[in-house]
Amino acid sequence: MLGFETSCDETGVGIVRGRTLLADAVASSVEQHARFGGVVPEVASRAHLQAMVPTVHRACATAGVRPTDVDAIAVTSGPGLSGALLVGVAAAKAYALALGKPLYGVNHLAAHVAVDTLEHGPLPEPCVALLVSGGHSSLLLVPDLAEEVRPLGATIDDAAGEAFDKVARLLGLPFPGGPPIDRAARDGDPTAVHFPRGLTGPRDPAYDFSFSGLKTAVARWVEARQRAGEAVPVADVAASFQDAVVDVLTAKAVRACRDTGVDSLLIGGGVAANSRLRAVAAARCEAAGIRLRVPRPGLCTDNGAMVAALGVRLVAAGKPPSTLDIPVDSALPVETISR
Ligand code: KG4
Ligand code: ZN
Repeated sequence: MLGFETSCDETGVGIVRGRTLLADAVASSVEQHARFGGVVPEVASRAHLQAMVPTVHRACATAGVRPTDVDAIAVTSGPGLSGALLVGVAAAKAYALALGKPLYGVNHLAAHVAVDTLEHGPLPEPCVALLVSGGHSSLLLVPDLAEEVRPLGATIDDAAGEAFDKVARLLGLPFPGGPPIDRAARDGDPTAVHFPRGLTGPRDPAYDFSFSGLKTAVARWVEARQRAGEAVPVADVAASFQDAVVDVLTAKAVRACRDTGVDSLLIGGGVAANSRLRAVAAARCEAAGIRLRVPRPGLCTDNGAMVAALGVRLVAAGKPPSTLDIPVDSALPVETISR
């Protein structure tokens, strides 16, 4: 299975045989967005266009296969940036048509769940999935990844990774902000500042997230320090902010498992690379008797292998391929696993 991923700023081409990962080629345009502090859609689309064919060639070379050896093609058709998605979907259609192979248009979020099978084997189903990246923050109930994915909650404003990126900017750290905050936080005190935990009141929706109030609280705190002519303790602010995000994410994920009677939690998306998130999730899952699965960081961030992994699962379940006129859908609902 040849998988294409272009929903954001990574051009990903993966090749998977069964549950064996043969190639995972990724070209990222992240440096081109750094000076804007966030992904610029048009810049991402153009970068996909330039990277697409070389990335396919690189994946084929790594896997030691020719495009004609491929049995089927899978591509992210949504959700994501429209222009970026269009490049991947057009490329996948072209390869499918030229090679005479079936095409599977798949949901990006379901693909983040499927990728774990490449590292840890068959998915425990049902499971709860917490997907946290620069573009999404979702809690899903996954009774059967080929048949049924149910949304439990999502962010009502910023995505978790977006909060890391915005707070990093406030602290003078580079984009993308997750890794430098993670590093700075290692030397900081997570209890130095108590930042707000969004949507954790008794009347708040149990599984939705909000990170924009937290980002504003950090901004106000930093501004007050600067106005007073005091140095900003970057490590302490980074650690305290990170702790607020991680506390909410893990508490809600564990609660979702408990409420639904599910004993497996899977975490994916770029923020799943966060060391504090991994540590706190492991501790809280252990205490609650929940089995935790987190793919290695390279598989958590956007890549083509995750799309191929979902394609394999759909073929195994006997799902029909897509037609060659499938559209991209920037707001593809999470319930739509393939189309
Ligand atoms: O999944 P991804 O590569 O792309 C999408 O946004 O879909 O995720 C990128 C996001 C960025 O916001 C980045 O700051 C965040 O993941 N991230 C992290 C870490 N590494 C990446 N956030 C927190 N801690 C990290 N170690
Ligand atoms: Zn993603």
